[in-house]
Formats: sequence, structure tokens, C-alpha cells
Amino acid sequence: MSEENRRFLLAERPTGPVDEKTYDLVKEPVPSIADGEALVKVKWISIDPTNRTWIGEEPTYLPPVAIGEVMRGLGLGEVVESKNENFPVGALVNGLTGWQDYTVVSDAMPLMLVPPEVKADPATLLGTLGMTGCTAYFGMTEIGEPKEGETVVVSAAAGAVGSIAGQIAKLKGARVVGIAGGPKKCAWLVDQLGFDEAVDYKADDWRKQLKDATPDGIDVDFENVGGEIMEAVFARLNKDARVALCGLISGYNDTEPPPGPRSFGNLLINRVKLQGFIILDYYPRFGEAIGQLSEWVGEGKIRSEQTVVEGFERLPDALNMLFAGENTGKLVVNIED
Ligand SMILES: NC(=O)c1ccc[n+]([C@@H]2O[C@H](COP(=O)([O-])OP(=O)(O)OC[C@H]3O[C@@H](n4cnc5c(N)ncnc54)[C@H](OP(=O)(O)O)[C@@H]3O)[C@@H](O)[C@H]2O)c1
Repeated sequence: MSEENRRFLLAERPTGPVDEKTYDLVKEPVPSIADGEALVKVKWISIDPTNRTWIGEEPTYLPPVAIGEVMRGLGLGEVVESKNENFPVGALVNGLTGWQDYTVVSDAMPLMLVPPEVKADPATLLGTLGMTGCTAYFGMTEIGEPKEGETVVVSAAAGAVGSIAGQIAKLKGARVVGIAGGPKKCAWLVDQLGFDEAVDYKADDWRKQLKDATPDGIDVDFENVGGEIMEAVFARLNKDARVALCGLISGYNDTEPPPGPRSFGNLLINRVKLQGFIILDYYPRFGEAIGQLSEWVGEGKIRSEQTVVEGFERLPDALNMLFAGENTGKLVVNIED
């Protein structure tokens, strides 16, 4: 066991992307545990757009990380010492570990123990078979509810949630159009993941591409981005369409909220159902989603991609990678040096 616990503590709230002033990297002693607790050595950290929303001034669905507090984050680690029989030494733990080498866990915390029979690499456990996959699963199957032959549009489609959400919609028999940045990601969606079409929102003619890719309009919007992209998708929603409002990443680094979508009236005219959702609310049902996703992965019906960053000290840079589109699929950091 290494003798120190590296931790990223929030030093200052950023006004745009995180920078060298946002966090203090400190080295503290490895914590000791009391009865009912277990010590987890964190090995992999999941990088999620919501990390950025947690360090703003305003509360979101969780209170902001306080100045001086360890950066909140999801991770995967192994129990290395235990005074709680529910967390035996050697067990793999998936949950809010924070950006640190060691964390103390107890029954009071919403953590998943990875069943020993689940054999998957860490990025898949944090991604397709973790919170990411559950977000795609519940958002698409219970809010988007695509039906055979309907047109589904997924934004940030080459990212962690979007790539899985689009493949689920294909499994439900829908025609799936992904929106992503750049020809390489668009080709990957169509050639490797089986999306029907892809729209490159970084191309000058992206609005025309969207129109051409959705000649019959849009029945389901799995919305990950917001801003201009959402506005253009909203304008093409059909009667009785559904919007699974998953994320609004285009605004997370902004200090001012974006202007409202000018096409909002189309939701009224077309009786569209829009529902925001936060995956934490589905936590008691994660087993259900992970069971189905594992089956699909095992059958080769869902493919996962991952972008791995090496090194604990690169955690803040990795967070910025999400906003620059430098990841394909799930972004994780391997912190075992
Ligand atoms: N509701 C929930 O409970 C929940 C849970 C998990 C995630 N989410 C949301 O789901 C969305 C995707 O999350 P993720 O973890 O799967 O991340 P991700 O999609 O793997 O990474 C973010 C991607 O967003 C795209 N992006 C970044 N800035 C953009 C911009 N200004 N305009 C258009 N695209 C932009 C980039 O792809 P390109 O290269 O294509 O630009 C980037 O790769 C986020 O909005 C996140 O907040 C919500």
C-alpha cells in the first residue's frame, strides 16, 4: 500500500474550463478505518461532464463541492482493508470515490460492489456497465421509448452515453441519427456502431445535414448537448415526439445561461413530451439495466469504446478533454502509477 493519499481539493471555482488554479494537489496520510468501514484503493476515475457542474457556485441536483473539499467523482477501486463484512478485502467497488488514491466507505454510501462473476475491463465497468450505461438505458427505454421505424436523434453521439443510447435505439428497431464533431467520429458511428446516419455539427452545412438525415422529422431526441444543436433538433420534432433531456454540455463551462431555444413553440404545437432525468434517481434499479446491458455486450449487440488517460495528475486536464471533444466513448483516468 502506498503511504500517501494524493487528493485533488477544490481551490477555486472556475469561470470557464478548469485550469491550474482550480485544484490543489495535496498528499495526505492514508486514512485509517473505524468499525463498520472499509478502505478502498481507488484505481480508475470516471470523467463525466457533470464533474464540471459540481464545482460551480450554484447547487445542481447535488450541493456544490465546497472549497477545500476533495473533488467529487466516480471511480473504481479495490477494498484493501476492512472492518465491514459487506466490503470484503479484494472486492471491487464502483461509486463516488472522489479524486483521491484512497477512500473510506461504509454501508451508508451509495456504492455498488462489482459482482465477482462480472468480468469486464475497468473502463467498461465505469462506462457501459456503470452509471453511463444506466443513463443511456433508462433515458432511452423509459423516456425516449423508441418504436420500430421511428427516427431517433442522439447528440454527443460519439461520447460515452450517446454511443450506448444510439445502439439501444437501434436494438429497438428505430432509425438512428447521431450528431458528433468531425468526420472521424461520424464515420465511426455509422461504420462501427451501426447508426443509420451521422451529422457533423462542426461542418458549415450541419443544419442541412440534419435536415437531409431526418426527412420524416424526429420522433425521439436523446438530448445531451443543448444550445444551437438542441434548437435545430426541436424544430424538426414530429407530433407526439419525446425528448429525453439527459444533458446540456454545451453550456457547462459558461457563466451565463444560454438563450432559450427559439423553436420551443414546436413542442407545444406537436404535443411533444419532454422529460429531464437524473440517473441517481434510478440507482435502486441499476441491477436491472446492468443485467440487460451485460447481455447485449456479451452477445456483441452493443460495442463500447474508451479513451484512457494515464496518471493521477492528469485528472483536471482529462475533464477539459470532454469539452474539447477529445474523447470517443467513455473517458477514464488510470491513477495507478
Ligand atoms: N442526466 C443524467 O443523469 C446524466 C448522466 C450522465 C451523463 N449525462 C449527460 O450526458 C451528456 C454526455 O455525457 P457523457 O458522460 O457521455 O460525456 P461524453 O459524451 O463522453 O463527452 C462529452 C462529449 O460532448 C461533446 N461536446 C462537448 N462540448 C460540446 C459542445 N459545445 N457542443 C456539442 N458537443 C459537445 C464532445 O463530443 P464531440 O466531439 O462530438 O463534440 C464530447 O466528446 C452530458 O451532457 C452529461 O451531462 C447526464
